[in-house]
Amino acid sequence: MNAEGRTRLNQTPEWTALAKHREELADTHLRELFAADPGRGEGYTLQVGDLYLDYSKHLVTDETLRLLRELAAATDVFGLRDAMFRGEKINVTEQRAVLHTALRAPRDAVIEVDGENVVPKVHAVLDKMSDFADRVRSGAWTGHTGRRIKNVVNIGIGGSDLGPAMAYEVLRAFTDRDLTVRFVSNVDGADLHEATRDLDPAETLFIIASKTFTTIETITNATSARSWLLAALGDEAAVARHFVALSTNAEKVAEFGIDTANMFEFWDWVGGRYSYDSAIGLSLMIAIGPERFREMLDGFRLVDDHFRTAPAEANAPLLLGLLGIWYGNFHDAQSHAVLPYSHYLSRFTAYLQQLDMESNGKYVARDGRQVEWQTGPVVWGTPGTNGQHAYYQLIHQGTKLIPADFIGFAEPVAELSGELKAQHDLLMANFFAQTQALAFGKTAEEVRAEGVPEELVTHKTFQGNRPTTTILAKELTPSVLGQLIALYEHKVFVQGAVWNIDSFDQWGVELGKVLAKRVEPALTEGAEVPGLDASTKTLVATYRQLRGR
Ligand code: F6P
Repeated sequence: MNAEGRTRLNQTPEWTALAKHREELADTHLRELFAADPGRGEGYTLQVGDLYLDYSKHLVTDETLRLLRELAAATDVFGLRDAMFRGEKINVTEQRAVLHTALRAPRDAVIEVDGENVVPKVHAVLDKMSDFADRVRSGAWTGHTGRRIKNVVNIGIGGSDLGPAMAYEVLRAFTDRDLTVRFVSNVDGADLHEATRDLDPAETLFIIASKTFTTIETITNATSARSWLLAALGDEAAVARHFVALSTNAEKVAEFGIDTANMFEFWDWVGGRYSYDSAIGLSLMIAIGPERFREMLDGFRLVDDHFRTAPAEANAPLLLGLLGIWYGNFHDAQSHAVLPYSHYLSRFTAYLQQLDMESNGKYVARDGRQVEWQTGPVVWGTPGTNGQHAYYQLIHQGTKLIPADFIGFAEPVAELSGELKAQHDLLMANFFAQTQALAFGKTAEEVRAEGVPEELVTHKTFQGNRPTTTILAKELTPSVLGQLIALYEHKVFVQGAVWNIDSFDQWGVELGKVLAKRVEPALTEGAEVPGLDASTKTLVATYRQLRGR
């Protein structure tokens, strides 16, 4: 498809065919699709590594899937995929390669950026991280006073926080339980205060994680953390034993006062939200150990290989991406819920929010023109069964279509035993019941047959036809986590490719940063900010008044 064709996506024959098909399917119910095809529950499934994926409860037929794949072919999703894996500069607005896949490439792989094989650099950093993590875990790396490190505090924000913070929660059962690992991101001083108030500075290691090392929240928190440490240890030399940096910017790291020997590097071809399997994962590696970390990387790689080689009909990230397009562009769905049935995945959706919404929250196409079609959805969700008792009502009987991913595991984590282990079946009974209820609902006849008074029949009727994907794995391991994250990374990629947006820049977050810098002197010194709008001016004046300034 030429450039003109790309921006006119919604006028292509493939798009028009999908729109027409959507009309034809308007009155079709999942109940009918299942009745017509007894093999649907087995047929509409995929196995990718350890992940069993059921997409039978989607409002699709073979024809829908064929038409969606035609859209993917017309927009050359696989062409862009190959360009990404080859290291081409597909992040067009920043002229950067997009190579998070190189972070999990095997040692002998060759992936070139500007003529240089980046794989040896990736493994050199992984080895350096492993060595450091082992020394912290064994007690060989001590604090300034010779005490063992018992606390690790990662200071970073966005992609330099969400990934390791999420993965640490997910893999808690694999962590060294004697280590306290915390994550500070918010520039609200309360975050650092709460994270450090019960820690002994002599036993605390700060990991300052920032790709650019210029992010104001992180530098401000890191500066306060250094003051907290020095107030207790009283010697500048302590910084070298208690601060390490994860960054692409050695100059700024040195400027901050961290020895670059204690810096773990990554590169501009790793996007912030795609970075937790780079040096940004150091806190996680210290918590779970290098071996588990590498198992996680193997999981990522398994899905990378699948995405790169599986045919369109059996390609899971392609399928998930296209299903999202089906609902977002042809059913007017505004959001997408991710509902994990594992307490350990409590921060999983928050992580996906950055991955998806910072990648595909764009109204400008790769060629600079405004798109005429919907792009990224609002991603949201919390672990089941809590959500069931909060917002599922709206998913079941609300007026909005909310496609949802249900993620669950056959086994509880190995640490659970006795009654707590037995609770797992109840958790999973809810998991299966919810997607069943969402898909098939309950008819008015079924409600009446239960003797429900006529005036309550409509209230107790469930339309059903609410689409879900079920992702089931045997157990939650580091490898399975890697597989899940890579699955979503590539799903987001597929959607950005079809929508013709640059999924790897994030210009939309810049304006707020610039304005915050401009407004700050007005708060602190009452400085006149030229061009401040009437609303913000009044709010700032009110704030100053409330603070007695
Ligand atoms: O919010 C914008 C952003 O640039 C994210 O993309 C990034 O993950 C985050 O800030 C943190 O950036 P850095 O790692 O450079 O501190």
